[in-house]
Amino acid sequence: MKELKILLVIIVLVLIGYWGIEPLAHSIMHKHVEEAIHKNNLPDYDFSDLEPLPPSIKGDAKRGKEVVQMFCTSCHGVQADGIPAPMDPKTASESYGVVPPDLSNLGAIIDDKFLYNFIKDPAKASEFPKISMPPMGLDDQQILDVIAYMKSIAKKDLTGKEITIEACGRCHSIKYQKFYTETPPDVLKKYLGKVPPDFSIIHRAKGGEYIVAFVNKPQALLSGTSMPRLGLNQESSEKLEKYLAEIADPNVEARTKIGLGVLIYMLVMIGLTYAWKKKMWKNIH
Ligand code: HEC
Ligand code: HEC
Repeated sequence: MKELKILLVIIVLVLIGYWGIEPLAHSIMHKHVEEAIHKNNLPDYDFSDLEPLPPSIKGDAKRGKEVVQMFCTSCHGVQADGIPAPMDPKTASESYGVVPPDLSNLGAIIDDKFLYNFIKDPAKASEFPKISMPPMGLDDQQILDVIAYMKSIAKKDLTGKEITIEACGRCHSIKYQKFYTETPPDVLKKYLGKVPPDFSIIHRAKGGEYIVAFVNKPQALLSGTSMPRLGLNQESSEKLEKYLAEIADPNVEARTKIGLGVLIYMLVMIGLTYAWKKKMWKNIH
């Protein structure tokens, strides 16, 4: 009887360890990060520290296209509208430290208010003083026209993968998915001070809550970092997080099922072993 009690205690302890301590350990290990996330109320999809959109101006997509052709296509392609990248990746990255992203879908990925602030003053909105996109001195009307144009050409219902590659793919690779950034690592290192980490299993290393908050306000979580703030809207951010979770752990569901099976199998075997042992000892006594 005593042995049975000990066995029960062990089983209960293992279960408590499995369901209770494992996630707890996570929040204890990353306590300072959780505090920073809550203190800064991240993610802040209102971008409350940035200038509001001018309320009385309406953007015009047609005029926006002209502004883009005049001010942006010397650096950016707009494939969706038949405008190819102006330079090959090598020349572009050597000129700007990173290949400037294609503008086709960014209107659907980046929040309007952030975009307005970014076009006005890229270094300030991105919180990255060394950013190689200069302010172009556009007035509010021109900026809203550009935003209207970018939104008009952007694909609706982008997948998490598309969002990740369009928003992050100029700097981050995803090796396990065979996606390699066009900007060479040594060029990135020169521009940003370090090579941005690969995304293949970053969700397992950092966790979804952290990734979403970090993209929303990198400086709040990693003061002095050279990753620019990117201004993803809520929908894009959530899709991106889901995609990174999927690729980091594609077998999570299957494994949970197997894990449960193994647990049940072990319990049954322990029971059988115990019964067998009792029987053997009975004969010896
Ligand atoms: C001199 C080259 C140059 C010009 C001109 C330029 N850009 Fe950029 N742009 C860049 C580079 C380089 C980046 C990437 C910077 C980085 O990530 O560090 C960038 C990034 C962007 C981004 C991504 C922002 C984000 O949050 O991810 C948008 C949107 C953008 N540019 C829009 C525009 C628009 C609109 C214009 C014209 C009004 C324009 N750019 C003109 C070089 C340029
Ligand atoms: C202009 C280049 C650039 C772009 C674009 C970019 N990143 Fe980064 N990212 C970096 C750099 C550089 C680092 C390393 C930062 C550091 O350690 O200071 C980094 C680091 C990270 C980290 C790890 C942070 C940590 O705590 O170590 C995450 C997560 C991340 N990026 C996510 C993203 C996501 C998601 C996107 C797209 C929405 C993105 N990045 C777009 C340059 C970039």
